[in-house]
Amino acid sequence: LFAGPIDFLKGVVAMSGLPPADRLEVCFAGRSNVGKSSLINALTGRKALARASNTPGRTQEINYFTLGEERYLVDLPGYGYANAPLAKVEQWQRLLKQYLSGRQTLRRAFVLIDARHGIKAVDEEIMSLLDSAAVTFQCVLTKTDKVKAKDREAVLKQVRGKLSSHPAAFPEILLTSSEKGDGIATLRAIIAGLD
Ligand code: GTP
Ligand code: MG
Repeated sequence: LFAGPIDFLKGVVAMSGLPPADRLEVCFAGRSNVGKSSLINALTGRKALARASNTPGRTQEINYFTLGEERYLVDLPGYGYANAPLAKVEQWQRLLKQYLSGRQTLRRAFVLIDARHGIKAVDEEIMSLLDSAAVTFQCVLTKTDKVKAKDREAVLKQVRGKLSSHPAAFPEILLTSSEKGDGIATLRAIIAGLD
């Protein structure tokens, strides 16, 4: 699906450290602990490519991964509560916002939403920022293995309702479980199909 190696490229702590904007990239954004890094591992089929943990605030840099020769996959620090020193959190939140609104080659942002919780105020803040920057974003519900099928509809309804007021939102909502593998092939195909 991706021609060439899938590997960790680099961790970035300032906009000046970003790799040359010479190819399409997609990123995973979302609240701390929502499952961004786990989704990268599921997507690439590599158990520990991105570091995941139960402690919110695990990913503290913008981590670049190669998806073959032609695209980058970007794992972002979370927003919202993080178990880390405030000064550090503020620094990476600033970087996160600069990245999301100022990366020319960012083709689509996947905004991950915990399927148990739906869209929160902090998510909407990020979505508004993406609207302003005209970056198309697509919602991915994570951890669907933790929600009974009959309870999913209410969350989907909430998410659909919120998305309708965001012009940059891509309408299709993905349901995923990194744990069980649900929705992973679909997401992979979407990323591979972007041009
Ligand atoms: P930060 O880097 O701190 O912002 O977190 P993150 O969004 O990268 O989350 P991460 O992938 O580190 O996962 C957080 C926790 O959720 C870990 O304990 C994962 O094992 C768990 N988790 C992630 N995805 C799933 C899932 O699909 N199902 C279940 N049950 N647990 C998951
Ligand atoms: Mg992470």
